Amino acid sequence: MDIIDIIKARRSIRKYKKEVPSEELIKRCIEAGLYAPSARNSQPWSFILVKDKDKIKQLSKVQTFTKFLEGAPYVIVALADEKKSNHWLEDMGCAIMALLLEAHSLGLGACWGAIYHPENKDRENYVRKVLDVSEELRIIACIGIGYPDETPSPKKVKSLDEAIIKIV
Ligand SMILES: Cc1cc2nc3c(=O)[nH]c(=O)nc-3n(C[C@H](O)[C@H](O)[C@H](O)COP(=O)(O)O)c2cc1C
Repeated sequence: MDIIDIIKARRSIRKYKKEVPSEELIKRCIEAGLYAPSARNSQPWSFILVKDKDKIKQLSKVQTFTKFLEGAPYVIVALADEKKSNHWLEDMGCAIMALLLEAHSLGLGACWGAIYHPENKDRENYVRKVLDVSEELRIIACIGIGYPDETPSPKKVKSLDEAIIKIV
């Protein structure tokens, strides 16, 4: 499949089937993230793969918009070593996007649950405690992933004419 078809068809999936995907499939998604571009090729990322139901339930309570995590068979926690890159946040966005696209191409569904917040670390501190994450690492996102149990329709996006504001 052409990458553009995968990009256009991917949607955030917040409902998951009971059937649990193999760990190998989930690891393939994480592997896709490892090939993302990063400033000076710093690759500041690392991940925690959570499958323990009780931990997942605790993670789902980190903020209002992460309740969907409770129904996920896996949560991938995306972490950044801020000492490795002066653009760690952008780097992480690239890695997570690659992960989400690979998930879609494998027939999985995934959704970003926001943890990092520019103004306070409360959500990071909560997740840090639940998973005993080192103070050295920033916690960017908890990504719910599993077999999709919903099919959102294709998304309406800006037209190219709207998006390209100038050609000079
Ligand atoms: C930085 C970022 C944070 C997000 N945080 C959440 C979140 O906490 N909870 C949630 O349900 N979706 C979250 N999302 C998913 C967005 O709501 C979703 O990408 C957006 O509505 C567009 O829909 P789509 O992914 O289906 O194209 C987040 C996405 C991004 C990129």
